[in-house]
Order: sequence, then structure tokens, then C-alpha cells
Amino acid sequence: MKDLPDTEERKAGLKGLGCSRKRVEDARFTQGKGNYVDDIKMAGMLHGDFVRSPYAHARVKSINAEAALALPGVIAVLTAKDLEPLGLHWMPTLAGDKQMVLADGKVLFQGQEVAFVVATDRYIAADAVDLVEVDYEDLPVVVDPFKAQDPDAPVLREDLEGVTEGAHGPRRHHNHIFTWEAGDEAGANAAIDGAEVVAEETIYYHRTHPCPLETCGCVASMDKVNGKLTLYGTFQAPHVVRTVASLLSGIDEHNIRVVSPDIGGGFGNKVGVYPGYVCSIVATIVTGKPVKWVEDRMENLMATAFARDYWMTGRIGATKDGRITGLHAHVTADHGAFDACADPTKFPAGFFHICTGSYDIPAAYCAVDGIYTNKAPGGVAYRCSFRVTEAAYFIERMIEVLAIKLGMDAAELRAKNFIRKEQFPYTSALGWEYDSGDYHTAWDKALKAVGYEALRKEQAERVEAFKRGETRKLLGIGLTHFTEIVGAGPVKNCDILGMGMFDSCEIRIHPTGSAIARLGTISQGQGHATTFAQILASEIGISADKITVEEGDTDTAPYGLGTYGSRSTPVAGAATAMAGRKIRAKAQMIAAYLLEVHDDDLEWDIDRFVVKGAPERFKTMAEIAYASYNQAIPGVEPGLEAVSYYDPPNMTYPFGAYICVMEIDVDTGEHEIRQFYALDDCGTRINPMIIEGQVHGGLTEALAIAMGQEIAYDDIGNVKTGTLMDFFLPTAWETPHYTTDHTETPSPHHPIGAKGVGESPNVGGVPAFSNAVHDAFRAFGLTQTHMPHDHWRIWKTARDLGLHG
Ligand code: CDP
Repeated sequence: MKDLPDTEERKAGLKGLGCSRKRVEDARFTQGKGNYVDDIKMAGMLHGDFVRSPYAHARVKSINAEAALALPGVIAVLTAKDLEPLGLHWMPTLAGDKQMVLADGKVLFQGQEVAFVVATDRYIAADAVDLVEVDYEDLPVVVDPFKAQDPDAPVLREDLEGVTEGAHGPRRHHNHIFTWEAGDEAGANAAIDGAEVVAEETIYYHRTHPCPLETCGCVASMDKVNGKLTLYGTFQAPHVVRTVASLLSGIDEHNIRVVSPDIGGGFGNKVGVYPGYVCSIVATIVTGKPVKWVEDRMENLMATAFARDYWMTGRIGATKDGRITGLHAHVTADHGAFDACADPTKFPAGFFHICTGSYDIPAAYCAVDGIYTNKAPGGVAYRCSFRVTEAAYFIERMIEVLAIKLGMDAAELRAKNFIRKEQFPYTSALGWEYDSGDYHTAWDKALKAVGYEALRKEQAERVEAFKRGETRKLLGIGLTHFTEIVGAGPVKNCDILGMGMFDSCEIRIHPTGSAIARLGTISQGQGHATTFAQILASEIGISADKITVEEGDTDTAPYGLGTYGSRSTPVAGAATAMAGRKIRAKAQMIAAYLLEVHDDDLEWDIDRFVVKGAPERFKTMAEIAYASYNQAIPGVEPGLEAVSYYDPPNMTYPFGAYICVMEIDVDTGEHEIRQFYALDDCGTRINPMIIEGQVHGGLTEALAIAMGQEIAYDDIGNVKTGTLMDFFLPTAWETPHYTTDHTETPSPHHPIGAKGVGESPNVGGVPAFSNAVHDAFRAFGLTQTHMPHDHWRIWKTARDLGLHG
């Protein structure tokens, strides 16, 4: 009998589910061997750069490119007039609107693309941009979505004159895009109107920006001989880009290859299609040379996809003892100049209607009005699943506001209203079916971990000491219990531009027992090459170290909808497990033949099929793989490959309990985070170390958003925060220590029980930081103040509350 390594050793050797396997990507990233778009250099490559509008709203009277074209090295200057004969001066947005590729008669936001200069060198292109003379006639600017709805507000989208229907319902004003609603308004109103206690508040989630370290860019290369267009770019959804590029250009889809190389962070910024891609494609087709376009930091902040900008008004009703009876939400959503939000088609406000949060609220209603303003387009899910961050912030603030109105402890109010464990699967009043959860266990664990009661006591003592003049520092305890909704989505509910949101995995096992798996997703730093190999290792018994994971090349990867909204693990991760199971089913037939037994006489044991009752008789996966290529097996095709296209039956609903303890200096407005506890439940955990990294990163982005990050405009539409001097991007210096923890409630419908996690810390982190600021001032009468809570705003809050004496 063969010398069998023991079970634990074989299991550990797989580095499968639950293993804190080191990230395989990091060898190249830490040694400068990553291959990003700007690393791509091709023979004869040209460079593009944009002339951008300095005005937020202006008519473009003329464009004179003579001086620019005279500069040696300048090949072309494209304007809307050049693109118009090709029908490419406007392009469709992911939200069913259309957007100017280059200014067509007018500009609608500062930084809008006006002309595209193509030159032999990036610096020459930049010099030529300065030489293009554009004659503008400025027009009145609206940056406030409420003023945009005034009867005499300037008409922003003249192209829509006479269009009464928006992509999602009737337009009721020339700057109105759509109204979208969910739930039962009459029922919610009745519940609130009849409630013993009603709290009402308007909560603004300010405009911000994903700001990945690598900006957006592409290299377009047309091979005129073979008729093949190759597009390298920072794409979070390469297959969708290929389809859109085919529809726009008329080039057959099989003649377009889209490649996403290494991506330096996406966070939603790299989902949409930008004018730079279209102009680069046109330029390569016209010149026959490869054309590179990479935006700089200021362009990234000013012109590519913003996030949030939601004005949310809530009414919440409850009994005197704190049982919530109804919720009504209305959102005024500032979409900027073009509705370029990246949401599933049916949901123009994304998944905002998860705004009942973790609570069992019997009656609810929400409505969202999308409005045009003179700001950059976008509305992307910045590390969140389609407006979930806004929804979580809204409900977690409303709970605090209600707690104040009730004079109740906010932790107790939450616990009183949580959906109970035995209620899952739970259908919310706004129509979502939450798959699984155990909120009370997580909450109790979190409260215990931070010593909640002692903290409240300390806070009360601090207030007294402050009143006695013994301290100038207040203590805030920021509570949050969030529920995420990730993994878009069932194809029946979710599509982008008509493409159903499934995902895919194709696996090939090589004869010597190693493998390659290709997926429709694309990592932007999340570590898919590490974790998807782990899923497979546990499914097919081949060590993760022997499995290559490849993503991002549409010529080789199966069609998928890409990576955003924490959908990779819920959807592509499920496809990976299912493809692995197909491999295993075929492997079982092969093993049965080799061992001369019936299929049913075999059982799976970590990395092999064993004859039931005869453990010495087995075939390892490596042996089976070899046989599949080298032996004729009756009734079985040679080779060992499988592909799975996975349409998830439901989303997954990760959740978490976060507590932030913050000291606030009343005189300077400075804050110090004394403790941050983050408990996440993302179902089955594939790689605990990667999860921890995801949580740390997401919390730091949440810290940025809550405490300083903002895309701010002045009254005439100038972007005031268009550089990293003004736009807060935290470094290690500002980042506090985080304590991470977890519970594990598997998803009942996901093949391995996993839920997504990448966004949870951002979704839950923002209200935790913000609630801490609010809570510090609760004893002095503060109910609501707007983010970001930078030092000046905190100082001003203290002053407005009369705390400066
Ligand atoms: O779609 P995206 O990759 O941004 O988000 P995700 O699906 O939440 O995954 C982020 C990273 O965490 C991936 O490497 C996942 O495989 C990993 N993860 C995990 O190890 N266990 C989970 N239950 C969920 C995610």
C-alpha cells in the first residue's frame, strides 16, 4: 500500500478555503514588475490629450486648431465636427442617457472634453492643447440640484428639448432626469403619521470621488491589415467595453480584443466608458498607429466619474419604546451634466432601496429624483454596490436621529429593531430577500469587545468634566450595524446595457495535474489570483499553488460582467466552484474506469477519489488528469476542462457591526480615533488575510469620505478640490489602528456559502466615523450636521452649539 500523507497535511497542502495564503500577485507588485496601461509602449505609438473647458456652462462659438496643428509632432486635433460624420460625437451612457464625447455646441461642466490632440509625444500633445483657441460664451451655471428645478433655471440639456420621457419615467422639468420609487407610499405614510414618535431629517451624502492611485487610460491599436482593434485599458468590465466598442464603432465584436492589464485600484472609477477611449479608438483608426491616452490626476478628479451627491430626506416613525413602524425616504440625486451612473438598468438609483438596513421595518417607501446640474457626470458605486453606501448612511443616521428623539440609547434601539435570526430569508418592505444573517450575535459581540457600557459611562463623565471646564475634549461613540447587498445579480433583475449580470469561469486541467482558470472578472488589487485558486483547490483537490488564475483578456476569458459592487466572489466565485464541480464529476467517471468500479462506489477525499470501504484504492486528481489526456476512456471525451456561466439566484447580504471611539477637540476641530472595532460577516471566508486587507483598505477610504474627502464646487461651477492638495487622500499618518473581527453566517444559495466583502468596510465605515462625530455633540443638542467632518466643520459645529464660550 502507498504511503498516505495524513488528511490534515493533504488539506493544508491545498491552501484552499480558509487559508491565509500569501498573495501571489505581490511578488510582481512589490518588485516593480506590474504591467499597467502606462507601461505599455508600442512602436510608433501616438499620444492623446484633451482640451478641456474652463467653464461649467458655456456655448462653444468656435475652435481654432491652426496654431496647435502647426506645432511639430502634432498629428491631428479632433473636434465634435470630426466625430459627427461617424456618429461618435455623442455616446450612450451606462444609464441609458447619452453624453458628448467632444463638446457639441456647448459645454456643461468644468473639465468637459472639447478637443482631442494627437501627437508623437505626450508633452507635445500637452503643449498643443494650450495652443488650441476656443471661443466660449459663458451661460448661467447651476450647481445646486434644488435650484436646478426652479421654473426659470437655465436649460442644461438642450439636446433633450421636447423629450418628456426619461430613461426611467416621465421628466417633469427641463433639468429633471427621472423619478424612481419603491415600496408602498400610502402604507408608509399611514404607519408614520399614526406613530407615537416621528423623527425627520435631511441628510446630505456629499459628492466625492473614488480617486484610484492609477488614473484612467487606454492604448488603442488598430491593425488595419487584419482588421483587428486591440484596446488595452483600465477597465473594470472588459467584456462590456468590447461590446460597447463594437456597437459604437461598427467593428465586429470578434475583431475587437480588450485587455485589462494590471489595474491600480478601480473603486468604481473604471467601470464607465469615457471620451478618452472613444477618441483613442477613432485616432488609431484614422492614423493606423497605436494611440495612448492617460489622464492626469486633475483630469481624473474633475472629469471622470464622481460618487454620491445624494440629498436624502427621511421620516421614521416608532412606538414610544422604540419599535420602528415605518420609513419614508426621498432623495434628490445630483447626477451632473449627463446621467452616466453605473447602475443595473432597472434600478436608476442602484440598490438604494436597501435603505431599511438591518431593521425589520414593516412599512417603507422610497423615491429618488435624478437631476441635471453643471457638474461632471458619473454616479458610480465608489467601493459600494450601487448606492448601498448612501442607503446605509441614511438609515444609520436616521436611527441615531430617532434615538435622540426617543431619548434612548442608540445601541439598544438597533437591537430592538434588528431582523431576527429566525426571520431569514427575510423579505424587506422594499422588496429585497435577505439571504441570511445573525445580527444580534454580531452586535452583542461588538458591544462586548469595546466595553460599551463603560464607554458610555466615560462619555457622560467627560461631558460633566467639559461643563466644569476641566477638559476641552469630547468623546464620541459611533455605532453602525450595516447590511450590504452584493453580487449583482440575478439576470432577471440586473443587466447593464441589456447584458445580464452573470459571470463565468473556464478551467483547464493540464496533463501533469496543474491548471489554469480564466474568469470574466478583473482584479484591481483585490487578490483574485490568490483567492479564486483557493476556491478551486478545495473543489478539485489541486493545490492553489498549481493553479494560474487569469482575467481581463476578452480573447481568452469567458464573457463576464466584470468586477465592481463586490460581485466577484458572489458571482464569479460561484462560477469557479461550479466549474470545479463539473471537473470533479468528470474526474469521478475517469477514476471509476481506472479503478474498475462503478462511479457510485467512489467517494471524494480532499484530493482524490477513494473506493468506499477500501481506502488503499484511490486515484489522485493528478493521476486522473494524466489519464484524461493519455488514455482512451470509453464514453468519455479526452481532456479535463469545464466552463460555468453562473446566474446567481439572489444577491448575498453581508453585514457588520462597527464601533468607532473618537476624541474631538472642541477648540481646534481636530479628531483622534482612539479605537475602531470592525466585525464583518461575509459568510464563508476564503482568505482571512485578504479579507482583513480589504477591511483595512475600505475603512481607510471610509475615513477619507467621512472626515475630509469632497469634490466641492463654487457657485459658478469651478471645481475647488481638483488636486490632491485639496482632495483628502489619507496616508498612513492619518490612518488609525483597526481591530477586525468576524462572525460567519454562510449564504444559503452560494455554492460555497461566501458573500462579498470588499465594500462592506466602506459602506459601514462612513456612518461609524460620522456617527462618532455626531455622538460627541449629542449631549449639547446636535442632531445632524453634514459630512465631510473636516477640522473646520467640526470647529464650526462646536461654535454653533455655543461651546467656544
Ligand atoms: O468584487 P471584488 O473582488 O471587489 O469584491 P469581493 O468579491 O468582496 O472580494 C474581495 C476579495 O476578498 C477577493 O480576493 C475575494 O476572493 C476575497 N474574499 C474572501 O476571501 N472571502 C469572502 N467571503 C469574500 C471575499
